[in-house]
Amino acid sequence: MTSSPPSHAVEMKDIVIRFPGVLANDRVNLTLKHGEIHALLGENGAGKSTLMSALAGLYKPSSGTMRVHGELVDFNSPKDAIAKGIGMVYQHFMLVPTQTVTENILLGLNEPKFFMDLPKYDQKIRDLQDQFGLRVDPTMKVWQLSVGEQQRVEILKTLYRGADVLIMDEPTAVLAPQEIDELMNTMRSMTKQGKSIIFISHKLNEVTAVADRLTVLRKGVATAEGMDIEGLTGEKLAELMVGRKVIFRVEKKEQEPGDVVLDLREISAQNNKGVRALNKLSLKVHQGEILGIAGVAGNGQSELAEVITGMRGCEGSILINGEDVANTEPSAAIARGVAHIPEDRTGVGSAPNMTITENTIMKNYRDQPIGNKWSINFTEARDHARGLKDAYDILAPNVRTMARKLSGGNLQKVILAREITTNPKLMVAMQPTRGLDVGAIESIQRLLLEQREAGTAILLISEELEELLTLSDRIAVLHEGKVMGIMDAENADVKEIGLMMTGTKRSDA
Ligand SMILES: Nc1ncnc2c1ncn2[C@@H]1O[C@H](COP(=O)(O)OP(=O)(O)O)[C@@H](O)[C@H]1O
Ligand SMILES: [Mg+2]
Repeated sequence: MTSSPPSHAVEMKDIVIRFPGVLANDRVNLTLKHGEIHALLGENGAGKSTLMSALAGLYKPSSGTMRVHGELVDFNSPKDAIAKGIGMVYQHFMLVPTQTVTENILLGLNEPKFFMDLPKYDQKIRDLQDQFGLRVDPTMKVWQLSVGEQQRVEILKTLYRGADVLIMDEPTAVLAPQEIDELMNTMRSMTKQGKSIIFISHKLNEVTAVADRLTVLRKGVATAEGMDIEGLTGEKLAELMVGRKVIFRVEKKEQEPGDVVLDLREISAQNNKGVRALNKLSLKVHQGEILGIAGVAGNGQSELAEVITGMRGCEGSILINGEDVANTEPSAAIARGVAHIPEDRTGVGSAPNMTITENTIMKNYRDQPIGNKWSINFTEARDHARGLKDAYDILAPNVRTMARKLSGGNLQKVILAREITTNPKLMVAMQPTRGLDVGAIESIQRLLLEQREAGTAILLISEELEELLTLSDRIAVLHEGKVMGIMDAENADVKEIGLMMTGTKRSDA
């Protein structure tokens, strides 16, 4: 008998993939064993999605080989990959909102006249759901589903097509904590039933909770290949990902806050549904101070940022350096030195189809030397953008790169660079590090602290308590549009903050 080594579910060897100006994968190896959960990690732009897109048949490597269950493969399209049992759940879902769950799952398949017999397929899909614990009503239209449910549809879609290798590209980024737990249970149940999974994530706790081994990419190169998870520390992982030891606690300098810059007096406002979102909220933020806003999502955080930046009407007064700007236009806030790091980086924060240069001058294109009375000096604008690209370490081929081509971390740096160059008096930062990797989080947090040292008053709204404790001078806890209590961050008690987040007043706690 010949004793050839057992074949693996997937073996990628010496994979090279280039884009114009970027070597996205530089001779990368990845081996996925049968029945394992293999974590794929790396900073934004490290090349994870690219590598997996090659396995899913979307890109063709310029060199290297791929084997699936021992067989050499050469995919020309996603269809070829699906035929070999490879299913990818992409970061951005590809569902048709107006169709039902079942219709979406059957879409593109040669099921004969499936629309004639939908109930039969609904049942098939229910069976698949029971098998893997993926609950979602097959008869619902996709637009009626939550993000977590849509993700389940994407997973069901790949399972329905017979995938036995599942690639999940940052599936937890869009999920709430309970949904993450459910997804992890599903993943475990899938591997128990013979599936193999490649799981892309940034978060150490998630990786250690479900994965067996990991591969780490840094700037297109693998810095760990199939390493065992056991004994892996956060420091080690960060080092593999960013190439140097990451200081998880950025240094906050001692400094006395100055005069009041933002003075909110009894602000009330409604949300988009006409329900009261802010309820007589009063707050002050001083020069050179970071005031952190803690709270469970949906307790008025978005509306608070919007009323201050002039995007939403309200009752009460908003004094910026003594001047009331309540119910004015965003331009009035900008004119008074209010900078805004919005929650939505690609809609509100930047113009995806414009270049880095255009995105960096959005707020100062009227000012010398970039703007003259009637025109924009593009040479000046480009020089300005190049300066920012260097100063803020924005990774992109050049300043003509479209914003939509940037990774989340680099896009956030463009936005911060643009806002900081306006020398703001007040900065409203909403979830500035959400979805970013450790390296980018560290740079964004540093930029915020430098802004604090420069004397800007900063209102930092975040759902990451750790981040608030690290960066803030004081923390205010928001619950149902009210401030439940304000405390110094230095000796804040996490348990007490947690209680206030669920509605217990400081005096009752
Ligand atoms: N379609 C594309 N065209 C040009 N460059 C791309 C394309 N897709 C990705 N890149 C570049 O390749 C690199 C790796 O990107 P990606 O695989 O998306 O990283 P990750 O998934 O690890 O965040 C980045 O520099 C990115 O800008
Ligand atoms: Mg990616």
